[in-house]
Amino acid sequence: MKKYYIQAIQDFKTRKQPFATITAYDYTSSSICSALEFPLVLVGDSASMVVFGYDNTTPITMEEMILVLKAVVRGGDSSLIVADMPFLSYQPSKRDALHNAGQFIKAGANAVKLEGGREIATKIDALVKSGIPVMGHIGLLPQSINAMSGYKVQGKTIQKARELIDDALLLEKMGVFSLVLEGIPGELADIITKKINIPTIGIGSGPNCDGQIQVFHDVLGLFNKLVPKHTKKFTDSHKHFSSGLKKYKDSVERGNFPTSKNYTKLSPKVLKELSESS
Ligand code: KIV
Repeated sequence: MKKYYIQAIQDFKTRKQPFATITAYDYTSSSICSALEFPLVLVGDSASMVVFGYDNTTPITMEEMILVLKAVVRGGDSSLIVADMPFLSYQPSKRDALHNAGQFIKAGANAVKLEGGREIATKIDALVKSGIPVMGHIGLLPQSINAMSGYKVQGKTIQKARELIDDALLLEKMGVFSLVLEGIPGELADIITKKINIPTIGIGSGPNCDGQIQVFHDVLGLFNKLVPKHTKKFTDSHKHFSSGLKKYKDSVERGNFPTSKNYTKLSPKVLKELSESS
């Protein structure tokens, strides 16, 4: 199976070919996404909620992300693997950004993603100049849930819309290889997508981005705690999982599982000798 590198992701924009990307958090989900040839898999800090059960993305640590990343890397040999830098792993200094991004690359990531525009431009610059590919992320920034007083669509006023356009142009200049546009009006995403030469990857930002990204658990209907407007349940895995698990539990309780097909029997000779000697 071919391995997707950054050039292949950028070629989608050149060919005007929309592409789907997805998050993954373990070996099994990563293997499925890789076999389906998702060009890019993000080890999202959304793991904070869907894997570790925190309320938002701020608590997850580098250690927790690295654990998840390593499992995804083992499962995915075709997708480009991008690791999401957790809250406060890059904001404090260039040194922190380089040290932590370096840990992700050494753990097998092909690139890292950072949330923010002009306020983190110097960190992005330092990473790119050190040979670490960076994916940008502007608009609704989940790590800023406290500063933004909740999850709110961004860029709705003329001033905020202009700021986001300027941020997109600045990040492109800093060398990011693609840009996530989260939670911004569709028309603004369209303008940004046309203004920059790198692919935009939208989530809750309409159909005119070059690609789309979604959280694994959202599209599969696995995470029922929060179902954001930007997503669609393409199947109800929560229901399927519950029904499968209930069948297993009931089978054991009723004595229907395991059957003779599910375990090994001793040979009659060994059984006889064992019975006689004990
Ligand atoms: O962590 C995440 O899931 C993200 C989204 C953009 C998909 O950052």
